Amino acid sequence: MDHAIIVYAQQKGSVIERDIYGHFSEHLGRCIYGGIWVGPDSPIPNIKGYRKDVVEALKKIRIPNLRWPGGCFADEYHWKDGIGPKEERKRMVNTHWGGVVEDNSFGTHEFMDLCELLDCKAYINGNVGSGTVQEMQEWVEYITFDGDSPMARLRAKNGREKPWKLPYFCVGNENWGCGGNMTAEHYANLYRNFQTYVRNYGKDKIYKIAGGPSVADYHWTEVLMREATRMMDGLSLHHYTFENGWNGKKPATVFDETGWFSTLKSAYYMDELLVNHSKIMDKYDPEKKVGLIVDEWGCWHDVEPGTNPGFLYQQNTLRDALVAGITLNCFNNRADRVKMANLAQLANVLQSPILTEGPDMVLTPTYHVLDMYKNHQGATHLATGLATPEYRHGTEAKGIPALSVSASRAASGEITVTITNADPNRPATVPVSVAGAETPVTKARAEILTSDRMNAFNDFQNPNALTAKPFAVAAPKNGVIELDMPPMSVVTVTLS
Ligand code: AHR
Repeated sequence: MDHAIIVYAQQKGSVIERDIYGHFSEHLGRCIYGGIWVGPDSPIPNIKGYRKDVVEALKKIRIPNLRWPGGCFADEYHWKDGIGPKEERKRMVNTHWGGVVEDNSFGTHEFMDLCELLDCKAYINGNVGSGTVQEMQEWVEYITFDGDSPMARLRAKNGREKPWKLPYFCVGNENWGCGGNMTAEHYANLYRNFQTYVRNYGKDKIYKIAGGPSVADYHWTEVLMREATRMMDGLSLHHYTFENGWNGKKPATVFDETGWFSTLKSAYYMDELLVNHSKIMDKYDPEKKVGLIVDEWGCWHDVEPGTNPGFLYQQNTLRDALVAGITLNCFNNRADRVKMANLAQLANVLQSPILTEGPDMVLTPTYHVLDMYKNHQGATHLATGLATPEYRHGTEAKGIPALSVSASRAASGEITVTITNADPNRPATVPVSVAGAETPVTKARAEILTSDRMNAFNDFQNPNALTAKPFAVAAPKNGVIELDMPPMSVVTVTLS
């Protein structure tokens, strides 16, 4: 079979919410401390304590939202420990992540001010596992109440008169596991209870998210939708990409074609999960009012040799870039149900777009994919047709599609098409045609991320070993362009 892509320019779909391109920052390893926050007295250039280089890099990819403080950390986090004078803040042990002391120097004010600095939406994950209803209610009041109340007064005493905006709040994290080891039925009741007190104090409505299933736990989705659909705006879903399952994790940079293939297959599994969870959601919510919120996704490899195993610090190669490209295409194509997603995690943890070491910063191949895909943010999804042979490897009975694609039209009229070629052995000659455009496309430009090494990566010695490059493409003829995609590549084509 030959490759071919058709973009149906007249079949406009849902808006691809900007929030699909969201991020996640947990009190885990060097994500917050060192990755984002160095403190105002640091010799590392900073804006009121936030790394200048990281802030600028995140603005460039138009970070739409940021999730905090966890993850597993969220269900043992007590927000009052992280406000007030820093020297008086309670120290705690971060039991989930390396058993290190957390001095709470980064707390609610530091997070909410960061979101303002980044001009992104704040997404806070509340504590159900070890917290109380009152604690959650008071946190929301502290952040959002614009009047005279005990929590608003406390906020003012701590230096912030005006409330912040809190668009997103999730009631617990992974409550089937680290967030309390609950059954779906037990959590559904707790969700109903806790969310009652996540109040809207002002005119801005908080989008309430229920803690969702792990991977293919369809029973969880069924129970939550059955019991609480009318009390939620979103349901979370977590799926990590593994080379060979949870127990078969390998180093991020040392793998062969078998590791390449199995990892990309695990990435493609995201689409099956989206379809199956959506079917259950459709049963209880046919109008698709409840968003599927994939608030943890990305590759989970072994930690880099010599680093703290509890810090989850891993490198990031062309393989991770392909995972990002495939997954983001899946999200774009399911934009009718997927309303937000958060890559795990922002810096120095799991599939990070950013790595830091002291004053130095490296942008990973994943960062460059986010940059290449950013024009999809807020654009209207366009249906695509894709013909592509399977890429198979070894004795595996089932292959994966060699190419993946998604397309959108921005308010400016520009059409963005993002394509991945997962096949490490075969280039792909791909005619891309735009059908039904009101004004025929006449101009094309493109960018590519590729290497002849499947484990190419950027490090502190070679920070620009793998970056996006301009990709020569001829002007469309009768609405068609022809791409010659090398093996192992991610391409963005912009048509107007
Ligand atoms: O992202 C790392 C961890 O993975 C999160 O804390 C948890 O929610 C998930 O299991």
